[in-house]
Amino acid sequence: MNREQPISHAGRYEVVVRDGIGRIRDTVSGEVMHSVNDPAEEAHALYVEQSRLTERLREQNTEPLVVWDVGLGAAANAMATIQAAEAMNVADRGRRLLLISFENDLDSLKLALGVRQWFKHLNHVAPEQLLTKDRWVNRDDSIEWRLLQGDFATLKFAAPPPDLIFFDPFSFKTDSELWSVASFHELLQTCNGRATELFTYTYSTAVRAAMLVAGFHVAKGCATGPKTETTIGLSPLAARGNHRRELLGAAWLLRWSRSGAQTPFGVSGDDESWRAAVTGHPQFQST
Ligand SMILES: C[S@@+](CC[C@H](N)C(=O)[O-])C[C@H]1O[C@@H](n2cnc3c(N)ncnc32)[C@H](O)[C@@H]1O
Repeated sequence: MNREQPISHAGRYEVVVRDGIGRIRDTVSGEVMHSVNDPAEEAHALYVEQSRLTERLREQNTEPLVVWDVGLGAAANAMATIQAAEAMNVADRGRRLLLISFENDLDSLKLALGVRQWFKHLNHVAPEQLLTKDRWVNRDDSIEWRLLQGDFATLKFAAPPPDLIFFDPFSFKTDSELWSVASFHELLQTCNGRATELFTYTYSTAVRAAMLVAGFHVAKGCATGPKTETTIGLSPLAARGNHRRELLGAAWLLRWSRSGAQTPFGVSGDDESWRAAVTGHPQFQST
């Protein structure tokens, strides 16, 4: 069944159904969550598989693996994370999963739950319980899902520091603040000296430059739909470890130096110190 007409709406969001799959459209910006691919498949490939989530959950550790889901939306990324953890053999689990979702407008999840026949990933008790209690825990207490309602810009300081960040706000046009140098800088501070990796769908030159200026190391992420690349950010400690990521090198730096989109998001007019911060970034010193 192909329908592009909205089948329901609430607040600024509406649900459209394409190829038998429900999608959430932001009526203000026109942006559609997981617009091109099957949301569940994209969530799995871009966030779950790429982050090596199950490999990380097999590590013997008394501390939970803390995953930040930035922009809960209709919970495609969050449910892909939970379902991957649930699919593991109990004997293989070396540590708990603590998944923390951030969201400042729950209308999209409420809407999707209202027409869940189009959102197969919501066929689970967890999302409904997250909405009513801000928390869901599985039966053997190996998976915990928490909801932090409000602005990620401030809430991030109140959450346990992340090991993995699934960074999925709307684009720079809509969620400008979250893609700025200052925001990435704060994000790195919240990692608190940990070996943290951040995964995001964009491969924008200006976003990558903002991440570099903020102090992340930046690597190529996997392709998704029409995008030939996405982006992985590594905290300095993660970059020092055996990360098996393909860091951007001299070829990217050359393209950046010739690009019309050189300027990182969120820098102010006169201060050009960001240029030296990109060219002098440690990740380019050995290439
Ligand atoms: C692209 S959608 C996320 C899609 C979602 N990850 C999924 O898998 O369905 C972006 C989400 O980020 C939320 N958001 C945007 N800015 C935010 C902020 N400053 N704090 C918290 N949530 C925010 C939006 O309300 C929206 O639900």
